[in-house]
Amino acid sequence: MLDIRGCLKDLRYDENSARRRYQDSEDAWQHRLRSPFAVDIGAITASKAWRRLQGKTQLFFTISNRHVRNRLTHSLEVVEFAVAVCDILGLNSDLARAIALMHDFGHLPGGHLGERVLSKLCEQEIKHEVLSVVIAQHIERGGKGLNLTYDTLMGALKHSRSINELVLSPAVSAEANVVMFADKICYILSDANDAVRCIGENDEKVISLMKVIKEIGSNQRDCWRRMITAFCLESAEVGNISFSKAPERKLLDEARKCMNPIYKLIDLPFEESKIKYVYQIAQQFSDNPVLAVALMTGTDVDNLTASVPQKWLRQRWEETAAFETLSKLPNPGSISLTDPDLDW
Ligand SMILES: [Fe+2]
Repeated sequence: MLDIRGCLKDLRYDENSARRRYQDSEDAWQHRLRSPFAVDIGAITASKAWRRLQGKTQLFFTISNRHVRNRLTHSLEVVEFAVAVCDILGLNSDLARAIALMHDFGHLPGGHLGERVLSKLCEQEIKHEVLSVVIAQHIERGGKGLNLTYDTLMGALKHSRSINELVLSPAVSAEANVVMFADKICYILSDANDAVRCIGENDEKVISLMKVIKEIGSNQRDCWRRMITAFCLESAEVGNISFSKAPERKLLDEARKCMNPIYKLIDLPFEESKIKYVYQIAQQFSDNPVLAVALMTGTDVDNLTASVPQKWLRQRWEETAAFETLSKLPNPGSISLTDPDLDW
């Protein structure tokens, strides 16, 4: 194979350009000894938002089979994919790792369904990529925030681009673009893998999907290897991050089309009604009910919606991850969930 190692090193994000919102005396020794993005990684993996990801749905609501991905395992898959690409191309893998670790901090219980239901209920557009940045800046550490670099926060904000998904953005670092692609590639491959597990290989929709996936690779590891190789070879040839011409990209788009009816299938009405119900509960107990729901895990939702006498509801609420986080904020009602607050 062509030797492409380090071929995009000129695009590597220079860590000397990294900046933070405020000087942090607490971590001063680390700032002297480590790269700014390594310091971000330490802050992210010590956060509560990071641990909440293990209780958030990736795609399928079942938790009985632990092989089914959740947001935490998905985030680790994105880290692995993005870091592999950055290592090969000569980009800054610490920056890619930091962005990938926190990119889904803002996902709601019930994933995209939760996002749509909550947006309707509160009549404002709730976007998980904005919430990721709000949580990192204004919710963690009792509202003080994690004081991450602008570059990590901006990468998380731009990992989801609605209609411009899977299109390179010149407005962010090469590493942020790698994470954007890694996120989509990982979730499509893993959602397909979990669809077999949760829906069954004899379902017609799964059969059409797996025909495409088998063209990519014979198993999950093979699919990954082929995607990483194709991604790196095309980027090396173009001289920039690129994944638009390779046959693997076409297969990925086809797999995504096959996933669409499966995504619709799992928008279950009872999951929607659960979100509506916990929103009502949050309205009783919190002055920022939208934020309260956003901070809940799927486990919180299940516990709150399990049939319990009204007198025990407050106790259930106080056992949630959302309550623990909210109770440490000085003024939760004042936090905007639609402003990423990155004009600094
Ligand atoms: Fe993601």
